[in-house]
Amino acid sequence: MASSTVQPETPAARPQDEDVAERLLDSSAQLSYDPVTEVDWETPLDTGFHGASPEWSTLYGTRYWSELSEEQRRELTRQEAASVASTGIWFEMILQQMVLRDMYAKDPTDAKFQWALTEIADECRHSIMFARGAKKLRAPAYRPRRWAVELGRAFKTLAVGETAYAAILVAEEVLDVMQRDWMRDERVVPFVRTINNIHVVEESRHMKFARDETRERMRNAGRLRRQLSAFVIAVAAYVITTSMVSRDVYRNAGLDTERAMAERKHNEHHKSMMRSSCSGLMDFLASSRLLTRPALLFYKRAHLI
Ligand SMILES: [Fe+2]
Ligand SMILES: [Fe+2]
Repeated sequence: MASSTVQPETPAARPQDEDVAERLLDSSAQLSYDPVTEVDWETPLDTGFHGASPEWSTLYGTRYWSELSEEQRRELTRQEAASVASTGIWFEMILQQMVLRDMYAKDPTDAKFQWALTEIADECRHSIMFARGAKKLRAPAYRPRRWAVELGRAFKTLAVGETAYAAILVAEEVLDVMQRDWMRDERVVPFVRTINNIHVVEESRHMKFARDETRERMRNAGRLRRQLSAFVIAVAAYVITTSMVSRDVYRNAGLDTERAMAERKHNEHHKSMMRSSCSGLMDFLASSRLLTRPALLFYKRAHLI
């Protein structure tokens, strides 16, 4: 959705770029995981555990939450974790297509090209891991709302340059903070902690690449392009973050959907969790000149700032 497709390559930018990609490839060679063997898929689900840190539940801190039994709370966070994983799959599919399109017919001897394919391979493994994880949490298929699915379809077909890479970064940063909490939390079921641990390690490289690409592509962006990109990225961020937890989790956890949705909407605790998890991201967007006034409106509406 951004204007140009051909990115200018300044002579100074290229070696540094190659450098980053080389380092990421080295790091990936040293520490990557195969979820098929690393995650405990065999042990049956122990319902004595949460699926996510309770503080991350969309209902934590509400009156409804205080009325739930511990068992209901655990079932809720398990459904919420499965929903976040399913949204993760949706987003990783968008991401893989955008990165693949970006690398189309580029120089395969370039470290950056090879890193991009490595990232796609990571995401492919992640999506299978999330799919198996959600199934083990006994969750049905959670899909984003219809309009979000269609918007995503357009975005993955059209987004280029900084719009693609900054949107990738938004999704990765938001997931990163919550998953860091869940992976350390002893109340969370062990196989979910392993999944989060794998994701956090491998995504830190993806975030480095996404930040780098966003910065590089913004370097020569004019005012109009910057305004347009900032706006599209903010809309993408809004759709991604508001799609994380499906409204269907409440019914599947045996709760009253209408009441849950009403209390979730006014849950100040959850909003502040989202805001604090996005502070680093907002600093980055500001430094990349992508926090324009219209963009800010969307970040505020999504409680990211
Ligand atoms: Fe991933
Ligand atoms: Fe990623």
